[in-house]
Formats: sequence, C-alpha cells, structure tokens
Amino acid sequence: MRRGKLSKKSTYAAKRIYSRLEETLNMDRETEQTRKRYNRTSRVYDLMDRMIKPELRANVLSQAHGMVLEVGVGTGKNLSYYTQDCVEVVGIDLSPGMLGKARARIREAKVPVKLYEMDAQNMEFADGTFDTVIATCVFCSVPDPIKGLQEIRRVCKPAGRVILLEHVRSDNPVLGKIMDLLDPLTVRFIGPHINRRTVINVEAAGLRIRSVEDQKSKIVKLIVAQP
Ligand SMILES: C[S@@+](CC[C@H](N)C(=O)[O-])C[C@H]1O[C@@H](n2cnc3c(N)ncnc32)[C@H](O)[C@@H]1O
Repeated sequence: MRRGKLSKKSTYAAKRIYSRLEETLNMDRETEQTRKRYNRTSRVYDLMDRMIKPELRANVLSQAHGMVLEVGVGTGKNLSYYTQDCVEVVGIDLSPGMLGKARARIREAKVPVKLYEMDAQNMEFADGTFDTVIATCVFCSVPDPIKGLQEIRRVCKPAGRVILLEHVRSDNPVLGKIMDLLDPLTVRFIGPHINRRTVINVEAAGLRIRSVEDQKSKIVKLIVAQP
C-alpha cells in the first residue's frame, strides 16, 4: 500500500519535472527562433517599420529619467529622443543583427548609451537597478511576455516607472478574430505576434497599472505601470 502510494507520488513528480523541462525547451526554441527572425529582419527593419510616428516616440521617451533600461532596443530608433533627464540608457536586445544597427545610432544620442545582447526573460541586472524601464513594440515578440514583464518588475526600482508603447489585439471582436487568424503568418514571416493582450499580461506579471492611453489607432496603447 505504502509502496504503491510512493510510486504514484514519484510518477507524478517525474511527470511534472518532464513537463517543466519540455516547457523550458520549447521556450528556448522559441527564443532562438525570435533571435533568428530579428537577425533576418534587421536588414530591412527601418524601411518596414512605420507603426510609431516620430512625434509619438519623442513624447513617450521624454518621460524617461535617471537610470534607464530600454528592453528590445532594436535598431536604436528611440536613442536620439532620450533627454538629459536620463543619467544613462542601457539598451538590451536578443538579436545581434538589430543591436549592430543600434550601435551605429549611439552617436545620435544626447546621453550615454550602453548596449548588451540579453534576453528580457532572463536579465543579468540586480533587483531595483533602474528608475525607468521602457519598451516600444517589444512585448509582441517576447516568447513568454509575462516572464519578461516579471523581469522588468524585478529590475525596476520600487518607486520607478515602467513605460510601454505596445500594439495589442483589438478589442473589436471581428478585428480581434482576424488578428488571431493572421497571427501565425506575421510571426513566421516578420516576427511579431499581432494578437497579444499586453494590458492583461502587465497585470498578470504583478505590475500596478497607473494609466493606459489609447493612441490614434486603438491597437496601440501607452501603458504606464509601477513595480
Ligand atoms: C518590433 S522590434 C521593436 C524594436 C524597437 N523597440 C522599436 O521600437 O523600433 C522588437 C524587438 O524586440 C526584440 N526582442 C524580442 N524578444 C526579445 C527578448 N526576449 N529579449 C530581448 N529582446 C527581444 C527583437 O529582437 C526586436 O529587436
């Protein structure tokens, strides 16, 4: 009887370990695919990307101050907009191809910039390092967005601010459904998911939402949150 119970327990434990391992391997595979896709896209990204107008970038980035972390810095499109309220901007990205383009833009910045190849889902910074954490159009691409947002919560100072400008799944039921149908194609051929529910993901990561502002197209939202 006792032996039976033990063996049931150990089977259950083995199954759980196996399923965790499988989850991790799948995640690693997806992260690797994301890196490859953005390495490919990096050559044409600046020509292709028209989602965020320069005025909007300028407005959002003027809200950053102190020690700033930009997650998914991409080709460095935001770098020239940081103001001198920022002590230093640390940019991370998964893709060396995108980072290569960003490096060429460091000289356009008015503040010191450091760039690192790093996964947002597993950052190498100590807890509470940054006053501001920013991401623009990134959580459409991070394989496990909640894990990435939990990492942001960890590395942001308790009184710091998290500023996200993200495109999300439409609240319109028909458009939302169309986005769900097209999503596998955008992921395969360009990289981003177009049906992410980022506001819900921010809350699920334990961040406290301070404001959510719809931009002209309602699928782009400015989300401000705190750890
Ligand atoms: C659509 S691009 C946006 C780039 C830039 N933020 C902008 O506004 O132009 C998404 C970026 O997120 C990066 N990315 C995706 N997953 C990531 C991860 N797990 N960690 C770090 N960067 C990631 C991609 O490599 C890519 O450069």
